[in-house]
Amino acid sequence: MQRVAILASGSGSNAENIIRYFENRQLCVFSFILSNKTDAYVHERARKLDIPSFTISKQGFERGEALQLLKAYGIDFIVLAGFLLKIPENILKEYPNKIINIHPALLPKYGGKGMYGTHVHEAVTANKETESGITIHYVNENYDEGAIIFQAKCEVLPTDSAEDVAKKVHALEYAYFPRVIESLLLNRL
Ligand code: GAR
Repeated sequence: MQRVAILASGSGSNAENIIRYFENRQLCVFSFILSNKTDAYVHERARKLDIPSFTISKQGFERGEALQLLKAYGIDFIVLAGFLLKIPENILKEYPNKIINIHPALLPKYGGKGMYGTHVHEAVTANKETESGITIHYVNENYDEGAIIFQAKCEVLPTDSAEDVAKKVHALEYAYFPRVIESLLLNRL
Protein backbone atom coordinates (compact mmCIF):
# COMPACT_ATOMS: atom_id res chain seq x y z
CA MET A 1 0.00 0.00 0.00
CA GLN A 2 1.45 3.38 -0.99
CA ARG A 3 2.06 5.89 1.78
CA VAL A 4 0.90 9.43 1.19
CA ALA A 5 1.55 12.61 3.17
CA ILE A 6 -0.63 15.70 2.82
CA LEU A 7 0.86 19.15 3.40
CA ALA A 8 -1.54 21.97 4.24
CA SER A 9 -1.16 25.45 5.72
CA GLY A 10 -4.74 26.45 6.42
CA SER A 11 -8.27 25.14 6.77
CA GLY A 12 -7.55 21.78 5.16
CA SER A 13 -10.93 21.23 3.53
CA ASN A 14 -9.21 19.61 0.55
CA ALA A 15 -7.10 17.43 2.83
CA GLU A 16 -10.24 16.17 4.55
CA ASN A 17 -12.08 15.64 1.28
CA ILE A 18 -9.18 13.62 -0.14
CA ILE A 19 -8.84 11.44 2.95
CA ARG A 20 -12.59 10.72 3.02
CA TYR A 21 -12.59 9.81 -0.68
CA PHE A 22 -9.97 7.13 -0.10
CA GLU A 23 -11.65 5.61 2.95
CA ASN A 24 -12.49 1.99 2.05
CA ARG A 25 -10.62 2.15 -1.25
CA GLN A 26 -7.56 0.13 -0.12
CA LEU A 27 -5.28 2.05 -2.43
CA CYS A 28 -3.12 4.12 -0.11
CA VAL A 29 -2.54 5.10 3.49
CA PHE A 30 -2.48 8.72 4.59
CA SER A 31 0.38 8.54 7.07
CA PHE A 32 0.18 12.10 8.34
CA ILE A 33 -0.73 15.70 7.66
CA LEU A 34 2.08 18.21 7.88
CA SER A 35 1.62 21.95 8.29
CA ASN A 36 3.94 24.90 8.70
CA LYS A 37 1.46 26.50 11.13
CA THR A 38 0.66 25.24 14.63
CA ASP A 39 -2.74 26.97 14.62
CA ALA A 40 -3.93 25.76 11.18
CA TYR A 41 -7.46 24.32 11.31
CA VAL A 42 -6.19 21.29 9.39
CA HIS A 43 -4.80 19.93 12.70
CA GLU A 44 -8.33 19.82 14.10
CA ARG A 45 -9.52 17.93 11.01
CA ALA A 46 -6.60 15.49 11.36
CA ARG A 47 -7.58 14.84 14.97
CA LYS A 48 -11.17 14.05 13.92
CA LEU A 49 -9.95 11.84 11.08
CA ASP A 50 -7.59 10.07 13.48
CA ILE A 51 -4.51 10.86 11.42
CA PRO A 52 -1.28 12.19 12.99
CA SER A 53 -0.48 15.82 12.25
CA PHE A 54 2.76 17.71 12.70
CA THR A 55 4.05 21.24 12.36
CA ILE A 56 7.44 22.13 10.94
CA SER A 57 8.48 25.77 10.47
CA LYS A 58 9.92 27.26 7.29
CA GLN A 59 13.38 27.05 8.90
CA GLY A 60 12.74 23.43 9.87
CA PHE A 61 11.89 22.61 6.25
CA GLU A 62 15.14 24.25 5.13
CA ARG A 63 17.11 22.32 7.78
CA GLY A 64 15.75 19.01 6.44
CA GLU A 65 13.35 18.20 9.30
CA ALA A 66 10.41 17.60 6.96
CA LEU A 67 12.50 15.30 4.76
CA GLN A 68 13.51 13.35 7.85
CA LEU A 69 9.85 12.93 8.81
CA LEU A 70 8.87 11.84 5.27
CA LYS A 71 11.64 9.25 5.29
CA ALA A 72 10.86 8.03 8.80
CA TYR A 73 7.30 7.21 7.65
CA GLY A 74 8.44 5.75 4.31
CA ILE A 75 6.33 8.24 2.34
CA ASP A 76 6.00 7.49 -1.39
CA PHE A 77 3.84 10.38 -2.57
CA ILE A 78 3.24 13.96 -1.35
CA VAL A 79 0.11 16.03 -1.90
CA LEU A 80 0.13 19.79 -1.34
CA ALA A 81 -3.41 20.89 -0.51
CA GLY A 82 -3.30 24.60 0.28
CA PHE A 83 0.34 24.48 1.36
CA LEU A 84 2.00 27.87 1.08
CA LEU A 85 5.71 27.31 1.64
CA LYS A 86 8.12 26.60 -1.15
CA ILE A 87 9.26 22.97 -1.10
CA PRO A 88 13.03 22.98 -0.49
CA GLU A 89 15.56 21.32 -2.75
CA ASN A 90 16.31 18.60 -0.17
CA ILE A 91 12.76 17.20 -0.59
CA LEU A 92 12.48 17.83 -4.36
CA LYS A 93 15.63 15.78 -4.95
CA GLU A 94 14.25 12.78 -3.03
CA TYR A 95 10.77 12.89 -4.60
CA PRO A 96 11.09 13.56 -8.34
CA ASN A 97 7.58 13.59 -9.90
CA LYS A 98 6.14 12.42 -6.59
CA ILE A 99 4.93 15.80 -5.29
CA ILE A 100 1.79 17.43 -6.65
CA ASN A 101 0.05 20.71 -5.88
CA ILE A 102 -3.37 22.15 -6.54
CA HIS A 103 -3.66 25.78 -7.58
CA PRO A 104 -7.01 27.61 -7.58
CA ALA A 105 -6.67 29.15 -11.07
CA LEU A 106 -5.88 28.26 -14.64
CA LEU A 107 -2.07 28.35 -14.63
CA PRO A 108 0.06 29.91 -16.04
CA LYS A 109 -2.38 32.72 -15.24
CA TYR A 110 -2.59 33.90 -11.62
CA GLY A 111 0.34 31.89 -10.32
CA GLY A 112 3.56 32.71 -8.51
CA LYS A 113 4.53 34.05 -5.11
CA GLY A 114 1.70 35.79 -3.26
CA MET A 115 -0.94 34.28 -5.55
CA TYR A 116 -2.84 31.98 -3.26
CA GLY A 117 -6.33 31.50 -1.86
CA THR A 118 -8.53 34.60 -1.96
CA HIS A 119 -5.79 36.73 -3.57
CA VAL A 120 -6.21 34.65 -6.70
CA HIS A 121 -10.00 35.04 -6.84
CA GLU A 122 -9.77 38.78 -6.16
CA ALA A 123 -7.34 39.20 -9.07
CA VAL A 124 -9.59 37.10 -11.34
CA THR A 125 -12.68 39.23 -10.62
CA ALA A 126 -10.73 42.53 -10.73
CA ASN A 127 -9.51 41.60 -14.23
CA LYS A 128 -13.07 40.71 -15.32
CA GLU A 129 -12.06 37.20 -16.39
CA THR A 130 -14.89 35.15 -17.86
CA GLU A 131 -13.49 31.83 -16.62
CA SER A 132 -11.32 30.42 -13.88
CA GLY A 133 -10.66 26.93 -12.57
CA ILE A 134 -8.12 24.61 -11.03
CA THR A 135 -4.69 23.35 -12.01
CA ILE A 136 -3.07 20.23 -10.59
CA HIS A 137 0.63 20.11 -11.34
CA TYR A 138 3.95 18.58 -10.35
CA VAL A 139 6.01 20.64 -7.96
CA ASN A 140 9.41 21.98 -8.96
CA GLU A 141 11.71 24.67 -7.57
CA ASN A 142 9.52 27.57 -8.74
CA TYR A 143 6.07 28.42 -7.41
CA ASP A 144 3.30 27.04 -9.66
CA GLU A 145 5.61 26.21 -12.58
CA GLY A 146 5.86 22.40 -12.63
CA ALA A 147 4.36 20.34 -15.44
CA ILE A 148 0.57 20.51 -15.57
CA ILE A 149 -1.27 17.23 -14.96
CA PHE A 150 -4.90 18.34 -15.07
CA GLN A 151 -7.09 21.45 -15.40
CA ALA A 152 -10.81 22.04 -15.05
CA LYS A 153 -12.69 25.26 -15.77
CA CYS A 154 -15.65 27.15 -14.37
CA GLU A 155 -17.51 30.16 -15.66
CA VAL A 156 -17.04 33.55 -13.99
CA LEU A 157 -20.06 35.83 -14.33
CA PRO A 158 -19.72 39.66 -14.38
CA THR A 159 -21.74 39.70 -11.14
CA ASP A 160 -19.54 37.12 -9.35
CA SER A 161 -17.65 38.28 -6.27
CA ALA A 162 -14.27 36.77 -5.34
CA GLU A 163 -16.17 34.68 -2.81
CA ASP A 164 -18.51 33.35 -5.51
CA VAL A 165 -15.51 32.34 -7.62
CA ALA A 166 -13.88 30.70 -4.58
CA LYS A 167 -16.99 28.55 -4.12
CA LYS A 168 -16.99 27.42 -7.74
CA VAL A 169 -13.27 26.66 -7.63
CA HIS A 170 -13.59 24.74 -4.36
CA ALA A 171 -16.35 22.63 -5.90
CA LEU A 172 -14.00 21.71 -8.76
CA GLU A 173 -11.23 20.92 -6.27
CA TYR A 174 -13.44 18.61 -4.25
CA ALA A 175 -14.71 16.84 -7.38
CA TYR A 176 -11.39 16.33 -9.17
CA PHE A 177 -8.41 16.40 -6.82
CA PRO A 178 -9.04 12.98 -5.20
CA ARG A 179 -9.69 11.38 -8.59
CA VAL A 180 -6.49 12.78 -10.09
CA ILE A 181 -4.52 11.50 -7.08
CA GLU A 182 -6.13 8.10 -7.54
CA SER A 183 -5.18 8.01 -11.24
CA LEU A 184 -1.59 8.96 -10.43
CA LEU A 185 -1.31 6.31 -7.72
CA LEU A 186 -2.62 3.76 -10.24
CA ASN A 187 -0.18 5.04 -12.89
CA ARG A 188 -3.08 5.89 -15.18
CA LEU A 189 -2.08 9.50 -15.79
C1 GAR B 1 -7.35 25.78 -2.10
O1 GAR B 1 -8.28 26.52 -2.85
C2 GAR B 1 -6.07 25.59 -2.86
O2 GAR B 1 -6.27 25.49 -4.24
C3 GAR B 1 -5.32 26.85 -2.53
O3 GAR B 1 -5.60 27.07 -1.17
C4 GAR B 1 -6.90 26.59 -0.87
C5 GAR B 1 -6.83 25.76 0.39
O4 GAR B 1 -8.10 25.45 0.87
N1 GAR B 1 -3.93 26.72 -2.81
C6 GAR B 1 -3.15 27.73 -3.20
O5 GAR B 1 -3.58 28.86 -3.33
C7 GAR B 1 -1.69 27.36 -3.46
N2 GAR B 1 -1.03 28.42 -4.16
P1 GAR B 1 -8.30 24.32 1.97
O6 GAR B 1 -7.26 24.58 3.07
O7 GAR B 1 -9.68 24.50 2.49
O8 GAR B 1 -8.09 23.00 1.29
